[in-house]
Amino acid sequence: MATKIILDCDPGHDDAIAMLLAHGNPQIELVAVTTVHGNQTIEKVTRNALAVATVAGITGVPFAAGAHRPLVRAAEVAESIHGDSGMDGPVLPDPAFAPEDRHAVDLIIDTVMQNPPGTITLVPTGALTNIALAVRKEPRIADRVKEVVLMGGGYHVGNWSAAAEFNIVIDPEAAHIVFNESWKLTMVGLDLTHKALATPDVVASIAAIDTAPARFVLELLDFFTESYRDAQGFDYPPVHDPCAVALVIDPSVMTVVRVPLDIELTGSLTLGMTVADFRAEAPDTCTTYAATDLDHAKFWGLITDALIRIGDPR
Ligand code: BDR
Ligand code: CA
Repeated sequence: MATKIILDCDPGHDDAIAMLLAHGNPQIELVAVTTVHGNQTIEKVTRNALAVATVAGITGVPFAAGAHRPLVRAAEVAESIHGDSGMDGPVLPDPAFAPEDRHAVDLIIDTVMQNPPGTITLVPTGALTNIALAVRKEPRIADRVKEVVLMGGGYHVGNWSAAAEFNIVIDPEAAHIVFNESWKLTMVGLDLTHKALATPDVVASIAAIDTAPARFVLELLDFFTESYRDAQGFDYPPVHDPCAVALVIDPSVMTVVRVPLDIELTGSLTLGMTVADFRAEAPDTCTTYAATDLDHAKFWGLITDALIRIGDPR
């Protein structure tokens, strides 16, 4: 049976690919898409999410816009990586449909509460503001979700600071709430996603698909390659967000270890760091996990397979 996921995202080049993977993989049922401030403003990332849905032919899935800023701090966007639109590169189609009037936080709560316990997986690929607000507004979702599998953090490296990753550090208080909840949480962080590089062979296999959604991904990757080269010195871009979806689809695509994780809120150099305690075996009470290693070929195989299945929907 397919796993039902809520994708909480800030498209974002890699968020877009995460959405395409979720839509195109038969083991995933995308039950809602919610957006959160992050790579760009909430207006821009919501528009981008709808544009991706339009390219991919996603219909009948509720979309809702969420938090426009972090819980405590001023909003920060990732223009150096994602451009002025938040998804620069391809020409974006006019969205085929509009988001719901419902706030993303309510869509998350309603979806979790209306489905049987243990059936909804939350997949956040942006700041954790919506998820933190949802669990504060309706604490029962903590026991009711199956698990949280998120892209964010990293136990040995940062990208927005020396110690911290973008999704966590832009709203560290929200991350602190989410990482300290009672649900099972897996951090698919930079340790893993820096291995998910869109290498030339990957790009060639996507080009060979030759459909509109595949060409859209190529245009996203073109821009992403350049921005990661210019801003962070990568030869090939790390395509972070679909890694979290891939783990839900097939746990054999990566190695995951159980390890206590917490969020640094007070360090002057380490704000937003995801601190992993590897000193001893994790205690039985530990509910947090971290992804450590990726099967690169299997991961990109899932993405090309999803694109082939999506075909040419328009
Ligand atoms: C994360 O930050 C965003 O820019 C990406 O979409 C990804 O979710 C990587 O640090
Ligand atoms: Ca993202």
